[in-house]
Amino acid sequence: MKILVTGGLGFIGSHTVVELLEDGYEVVVIDDLSNSSLEIIDCIQKITGKDFSFYQEDVCDLNALEKIFSEHKIDAVMHFAGYKAVGESVREPIMYYENNLVSTLHLCKKMLEHDCFNFIFSSSATVYGDPEKLPITEDCKVGGTTNPYGTTKYMIERILNDIHIANPKFTVMVLRYFNPIGAHESGLIGEKPNGIPNNLMPYIVRVASGELEILSIFGNDYDTPDGTGVRDYIHVVDLAKGHLCALKKAFDSEGIFYYNLGTGTGYSVLDLVKNFEKVNGVKVPYKIVERRPGDIASCYADPSKAYRELGWKAHFGLDEMMRDSYHYILKQHEDV
Ligand code: UD1
Repeated sequence: MKILVTGGLGFIGSHTVVELLEDGYEVVVIDDLSNSSLEIIDCIQKITGKDFSFYQEDVCDLNALEKIFSEHKIDAVMHFAGYKAVGESVREPIMYYENNLVSTLHLCKKMLEHDCFNFIFSSSATVYGDPEKLPITEDCKVGGTTNPYGTTKYMIERILNDIHIANPKFTVMVLRYFNPIGAHESGLIGEKPNGIPNNLMPYIVRVASGELEILSIFGNDYDTPDGTGVRDYIHVVDLAKGHLCALKKAFDSEGIFYYNLGTGTGYSVLDLVKNFEKVNGVKVPYKIVERRPGDIASCYADPSKAYRELGWKAHFGLDEMMRDSYHYILKQHEDV
């Protein structure tokens, strides 16, 4: 089976490529390197001892897609490529809508032209907006997104539904990620944001390693046990494995399916800081500042549908997530 992975050198994409190769799939990656780098190819090869095809192209480029689909008989597509910085999406909405929507439309168009009917889409818990209940189940109301990035995910879900209705064989797995963190245990691949990180985990590891001075905790007056925001952090390797379970289901079903990929447990910002300090034996200095606009108090999954229907659940706990996130950043420093 041959799988096309868009954004396959990025954070979640690269971990999924590793799992696919280790499970015996053939892999074709398309990535424009806008938020990744060529050296990830060597890292994936080092981890798996296996090779894959690589195209340095933009997924919006129809000619590039045509070339890939004519050179390979693709059985399924996993679509990770996309812009994902919330703040940037507010400043550059056109860039976000254009890139995230056009890439998906072009991909689906080429898939249908080449009789490829299995599509795995990277969605996000952000589609639930401020959730109507906790834990969040897949039938909770979607929409009410608070930034263009989140709205692209919501709009793409709608588009995929319409494409499926018009083409019933076109099977879609919509995977709604909660908060992916951690890294491969080898320390060879992980999350490498450009510039100063916006998300919590990349920020914590950079404070711990001395690259940044102090963590700002955005508010301690939320209606949560310790007042700081609560999220469902999930190890990226667990998340990657979830894609393989979804892929297997796609191959023997027809339809559009929605799954929450989370652990089901919410941790606060302070839980993360304390656990990180305990597991890694380092201090993470922090200060409490104003709430970040657009943030919600709590967000965590009910992941039981994925367990029931895909046989998937997360195995790693917070300790492993903290350990692997830090191991990755320390290894990056060693290699410099
Ligand atoms: C954010 C996005 C979400 C996206 C996800 C992954 C928003 C509203 N949501 O989720 O759409 O899918 O990233 O890219 O931006 N925090 C701090 N200090 C920091 C950074 C974060 O206290 O320096 C807190 C936040 O207030 C929040 C928690 O840590 O309570 C997690 O934040 P973050 O890692 O940015 O993820 P989300 O906001 O959940």
